[in-house]
Amino acid sequence: MYAPKLQIEHLLPTSIDCVDINCLLRSLSEFKHTIRALTTYPPRFQYDKKILPRLSQILYHDTVTPLIDSLYETRKAVSSTGEILDIHSDISPAEGKLLHGVIAEDPSIKHTIEVGCAHGLSSLHICEALRGRDGAHHTIIDPFQNTNYNGLGVHHLNKAGIDFYEWVEEKSEFALPKLAKERPGTFDLAFIDGMHTFDHTLIDAFYSLRLLRVGGVLVIDDCDYFDGIDKVISYLKNYPCLRVHAILEPPPPVTLRNHVRRALGGPIFQSMLPHKMKERFRWRSSMVALKKISEDNRPWDWYAPF
Ligand SMILES: C[S@@+](CC[C@H](N)C(=O)[O-])C[C@H]1O[C@@H](n2cnc3c(N)ncnc32)[C@H](O)[C@@H]1O
Repeated sequence: MYAPKLQIEHLLPTSIDCVDINCLLRSLSEFKHTIRALTTYPPRFQYDKKILPRLSQILYHDTVTPLIDSLYETRKAVSSTGEILDIHSDISPAEGKLLHGVIAEDPSIKHTIEVGCAHGLSSLHICEALRGRDGAHHTIIDPFQNTNYNGLGVHHLNKAGIDFYEWVEEKSEFALPKLAKERPGTFDLAFIDGMHTFDHTLIDAFYSLRLLRVGGVLVIDDCDYFDGIDKVISYLKNYPCLRVHAILEPPPPVTLRNHVRRALGGPIFQSMLPHKMKERFRWRSSMVALKKISEDNRPWDWYAPF
């Protein structure tokens, strides 16, 4: 039987040097399904064994991460109109890894939603992890993407060849209740990084929980810098339908003060401290992922101190 021999040149444009790199990356991502088919049905093809690992490296790692890396390294971005702008609002690389990891480890995560996109770092991390999944779709809610961030978040997604996102230009306190009414239980992961007040975060979490299916994950950023967010997380941790799924621990204590804070923030000391001191010395984590393990069936008068 005739079996075509696949060479790397067949898969790449002939004159790579004069092709815009984004164009190249986009065309490479179109080969993804071909590559998957090749790896699934190897007996039907003879192939150069060096090609597949290299191509999967290009398709799954090289396409988005250089953009993420360069944004973190330079802290600068070029807008669609050619302006050079500072990156000033973003999740850290470690937080990005956690977010990416939560999605990467669970192939059933396909429909994600995010509050607060800014320059697009968190959106890039989420979409990189989703890339290649059948039916993947990412919803972004951000009313100030154009006015405060020069459209850089969506510009970066386009630049990375990501075409499975939708941007809702509305405040989350208005957009989420509408979505929760129209599409309850249809999302697999919700990421909250919008307005950082206690009430906004609680509202975002409340409606996100309604959007999530059982087994879905709620990820909240910036719990260590913002007392309001930390309080919301303490409250949510008491929900019977939620279980802590992943936590990004704070950086190791290098100063004496941090050592003391960490010791006093541990569970034994925490249980002995009065409430006010407890708050002061709690050693916080910067990103928390909570899994929805059942429907939210709390009785009407439920409350647990937090
Ligand atoms: C800290 S930045 C987000 C950073 C982004 N998640 C990242 O890691 O790249 C906060 C974002 O929340 C958005 N935001 C502020 N108020 C909002 C609201 N009421 N609803 C939704 N998004 C809001 C801002 O426009 C901004 O993009």
